[in-house]
Amino acid sequence: MNKASSAKRRQLVVGNWKMNGSFQENASLLDAIRLGWQGEQAAEVVICPPFPYIAQAVDRLAASTIMVGAQTLSEFEKGAYTGEVSASMLADLNCKFVIIGHNERRRMQRESDQQVAEKFIQAQRAGLIPILCVGESLDDRNKGLHLQTISNQLQAVFERVGLEKFTDAVLAYEPVWAVGTGKTATPDEAEEVHRFMRVQLGEIGKRVRILYGGSGKAHNAQQLFALEDIDGALLGGASLDADEFLAICAAAEHTEATR
Ligand code: PGA
Repeated sequence: MNKASSAKRRQLVVGNWKMNGSFQENASLLDAIRLGWQGEQAAEVVICPPFPYIAQAVDRLAASTIMVGAQTLSEFEKGAYTGEVSASMLADLNCKFVIIGHNERRRMQRESDQQVAEKFIQAQRAGLIPILCVGESLDDRNKGLHLQTISNQLQAVFERVGLEKFTDAVLAYEPVWAVGTGKTATPDEAEEVHRFMRVQLGEIGKRVRILYGGSGKAHNAQQLFALEDIDGALLGGASLDADEFLAICAAAEHTEATR
């Protein structure tokens, strides 16, 4: 498979703001991104602000093709879960995507593979597109266990939700050692895992977008996007800087245009 035969997988750039922003800061960041994003048709762009700013982002991006997502959601439908936010609430806010299983949540909130799978189910029930994150620790990589870790994380969700549900989902490979560290996986390291993930998806693999995440920057985006099995990026730090973010969106657009 090469990019040409996978032309239906549109490049996707997702900005994960994590716990950053204020109404004032967001207004200028969102306006700059909206005004700078002219490539409406080919690559897709999604911004995932913290919960309190989702409505602001939806509102401010209404006149553009840029979509809004959330950074997590509850694994339950509704009820006595103080502080949680449900899938249907996100859909109410006009969210289209939701990040699930980000390594910061797996590590800091101790989210298990089972919880990740339940969140995936809730998201799809409400019509949201899950962006399921997987990735190995530095220790796993050093021991040569990275593919095993990825496989375990994927299988836990496949078994619970069924493989066919991934036709309406996005996957993200986020090596833990690369997230927020300034250290990016090399093209070979990234492509090895992306290819492996696609094979794990079996028949539907050719239709599912797999994003790279982990210190993605404008200077390495073009090289990563050119790889057969990389369909875009999930960005943390780079999504907080309009110029950097737009340069990465432009690289995705360029990849679309040159397929
Ligand atoms: P980073 O974060 O780009 O700052 O490494 C990526 C992510 O956590 O999604």
